[in-house]
Amino acid sequence: NSLTGLAAALTGFVLHNQVLVVAGVLVGASATLLTLLMSTAMNRSVGNVLFGAFGAAGSDLTAASTAVGRTVRQTTPEDTAIALAYARSVVIVPGYGLAVAEAQHTVRELATDLEKRGVSVKYAIHPVAGRMPGHMNVLLAEANVPYDQLLEMDQVNGEFPQTDVVLVVGANDVVNPAARDDPSSPIYGMPILDVDRARNVIVLKRSMGHGFAGIDNALFYHENTRMLFGDARQSLTQVGQALKSA
Ligand code: TAP
Repeated sequence: NSLTGLAAALTGFVLHNQVLVVAGVLVGASATLLTLLMSTAMNRSVGNVLFGAFGAAGSDLTAASTAVGRTVRQTTPEDTAIALAYARSVVIVPGYGLAVAEAQHTVRELATDLEKRGVSVKYAIHPVAGRMPGHMNVLLAEANVPYDQLLEMDQVNGEFPQTDVVLVVGANDVVNPAARDDPSSPIYGMPILDVDRARNVIVLKRSMGHGFAGIDNALFYHENTRMLFGDARQSLTQVGQALKSA
C-alpha cells in the first residue's frame, strides 16, 4: 500500500496533477506508518519482515518443529460444550480463521449462552491477529461484543494460568509458543498470547494447516490442547447446540 501511494504521487508529478500527488502522499505516508506499527507489534524489523524468508521451506527451524512422533488430540462439539459449560472462566482468542468463517456472530451467541450459565467470558485480542490492524476489534464490534470484554495481550497474558478453557477460533501464529520458546523459529521474538499456560485449550480450525507464517504450531500437540476440526462457524454452531442440552 505504501509503495502504491508513492507510485501514485510520482505519477502525479509526471502528469502535473496535484490531486494525485496529495492523495498519493497521504496513502504512502499512512501505509508506511502502519507498516512500522505492525513491525513493532511483531517485534521484527521492516527488513526482516520483507526479506526474512518467513516460513522458508527446508530451514532447520521448520524441520525441527514438524509433527513427527507427536500426538494430536481431537475433540467433539459435545465434549467442547461440556468443557465450556462446567468452566468458571473462558477466554476466546479470535484469529484470521474467524474472519474467513464469518463466525463473529456465532461466537458472540455462544458467549452469551455461557454467561447465562454464570461462566466468565472474555476475548483476548492480539495486535496482529487477522490481516489488518484492528481486524478482530472491528469484527467483534460488528457482532455487538461488549467492549469491556476485549482484553489486549498485555492485560490478558497474566490471566491464562487461572483460565479454565481457552477457545482458539481460527488463530494460529499469534498463539504459537515457538515465538517465545524457540530461538530458531522464524517468528521468535514476536509477542504472543500465552494460551498454552491455560488449564485447557480447544483449537477450532479446519486442519493442521499453517497460518500466515507458514510454520507448524507446537500448541496443537500440547497435552492440554484439544483440536476441534471444521469450519469455525459450523463448529461453533454445533457447540452451541450441544451446550443447550449440556
Ligand atoms: P493465522 O496464523 O494466519 O492462522 C489462521 C488460521 O485460521 C489458519 O491456520 C487456518 O487453519 C485457520 N482457518 C482458515 N479458515 C478457517 C475457517 N473457515 N474456519 C476455521 N479456521 C480457519 O492467523 P492469526 O493467528 O490471526 O495470525 C495472523 C498472522 O497474519 C500473523 O502471522 C501476522 O503477522 C500476519 N499478518 C497480520 C496482519 C495484521 S495487521 N493483523 C497483517 C499482515 C499479516 P486451517 O486452514 O487448518 O483451517
